[in-house]
Amino acid sequence: MTARQRQIVSSGSFVISRKQPLVLDAYLGSCVGVALWDPVAEVGGFQHLLLPEPIDGGTPWQPEKYAKTGLPLFIQALCNQGANKTRLKATVAGGGLIGPVSPLDLDLDIGGRTAEIVCNLLEKEKIPVIEREIGGFFGCKMSMDLSSGETGISPLLNPGDFKTSAGLLPPTPAQLQETIQKIKPIPQVVLKLLRMLHDDKDSLKDMAKQVRQDQVISARVIQLCNNVFFSLKMKADSIDRALVLLGEKQFLQLVLSATMKDVFCDETHGYSLCKGGLYTHSVGMAMACEKMAQRISRQISPSVAYTAGLLHDIGKVVLDQYVGQFRPYFYRDIFCKAQDFLSVEKAYFDTNHSEIGMSLVKDWSLPEILHDPIARHHEPELADKQPELTALVYLADLIYSRFVMGQELERMNTDGIAFSLKVLNIRQTQLPALIDEVCLPFHGIN
Ligand SMILES: [Fe+2]
Ligand SMILES: [Fe+2]
Repeated sequence: MTARQRQIVSSGSFVISRKQPLVLDAYLGSCVGVALWDPVAEVGGFQHLLLPEPIDGGTPWQPEKYAKTGLPLFIQALCNQGANKTRLKATVAGGGLIGPVSPLDLDLDIGGRTAEIVCNLLEKEKIPVIEREIGGFFGCKMSMDLSSGETGISPLLNPGDFKTSAGLLPPTPAQLQETIQKIKPIPQVVLKLLRMLHDDKDSLKDMAKQVRQDQVISARVIQLCNNVFFSLKMKADSIDRALVLLGEKQFLQLVLSATMKDVFCDETHGYSLCKGGLYTHSVGMAMACEKMAQRISRQISPSVAYTAGLLHDIGKVVLDQYVGQFRPYFYRDIFCKAQDFLSVEKAYFDTNHSEIGMSLVKDWSLPEILHDPIARHHEPELADKQPELTALVYLADLIYSRFVMGQELERMNTDGIAFSLKVLNIRQTQLPALIDEVCLPFHGIN
C-alpha cells in the first residue's frame, strides 16, 4: 500500500466512498471492523462496529454501532452509492478478548459475539469473506485503501520490536524530579474552573468572557463541542453558540478540557499511539466517567467524575518523555507476558504514573476528592477516601481500554472488577447496558 492520505474510522460509525486516494484505518480491540468493496462499481466502505446488538432488542439511537442493526444499514448505504450486493467482497477483523482475560470476559465475550453476528449476516447475504482475522488476545490495526479496495490487517504488536532492552538507561530519580518541576504549572484558570465545576454557586459570566478573549481556547472549545455533537449534526460556530448547545456545566467542562491540552504532551513516541493520544484518551475518559456517574450513582457528581476522568492519567505526562525508548518492551511485558501495567512501569522507572500523578496533584494543590482516582485508578480496592469515585474511574478505564484502541498505551487488569461492581452496586448482568451507555461518548471522539 503506497503512502496516502489517511482517515480514522471512529468506533460506532462507517465511511462509504467511491474510488479515491485515501486510506481508512481503525484500531480494533473488542470492536469489529468490516471492509466491503465492489470491484466493478469501485465503491467501498469501512465499518467500525462497537457491540453485537442493542440491549433491549428495540431500535437503538445509534443503530450503526451494533453489528445486528448497523451492518444491514452499511450494506444498504453501499448499494445506494452504486455497489451491487452480489459483487461485494468482505474483510473482517477484530473481536478479540484483550488479555489478561477474566472469567467475566469469557462470559460476556462481546467482541466474539459481534464477530459472530457479522459473519452470519455476511453469509446470509452471500457476501464472501476474502480475509478474516478475528478473535485472539491482541488488538490489531485494519486498513482499507479506497484507491483499490485493498485491505490490510496488522497486529498492534510488532514481533520485530521484541529485542532486548539491555543498554537502555531509565531516568534517575533526580531526572524524574527535574521533569516534574519542568512540567508546565497548571494554569490558574484550570484551578478556577475546578472550583466552579465542583461548586454550583459560582457565576459563569466571567468565565465565558475570559474564554472569548482567548482565541486558542475558544477554538479548542468550539472544536471539542463539535466533536461531542458530531452524531447530532449540530455545529457550534462561536463560543456563545457552544454555550447554548452545551449548557453551563458542560461548557465549563469543555473549557477545562481545552485548557488541559497544553499540559498533555502532543508527542507520538511515548504513551500515545497516535498524535495527541494521551490527551484524546483523557477527554474520552472524562466523558465516559461523567456518563457513568449519571447512569449509576446518585452519590457521585457527574462534574467531579468528569474531572477525575480527565486527570486520572496525569502522571503519564512526566513518564511520557522516557517511555518512548522502552515502548516495544512495555508492549511485550504488558501484552505478551500479561504483566500488570503499574508493575511494568515500576520495573523500568522505579515508580509509576499513579505515584507521579499524586506528586503533581499535591504540587498543584488539586482538590482532595481527586487524589484517590489519580493514585488508585488501577487498584480501586486500595482507595482510602473515595472508593466509589475510584471504582467508577477504574471501570470506565477498563471498558475504554477494551473498546477504544489505538489512542494510548494502557492495560487495565481485571482484579478490581468484583470490588468495583460491589462498591458501585452494579450487577454483572447490568454490565452490557453500562458498556453501551458508557461507549456513547466515544462516538466521534477519534
Ligand atoms: Fe492509568
Ligand atoms: Fe487511563
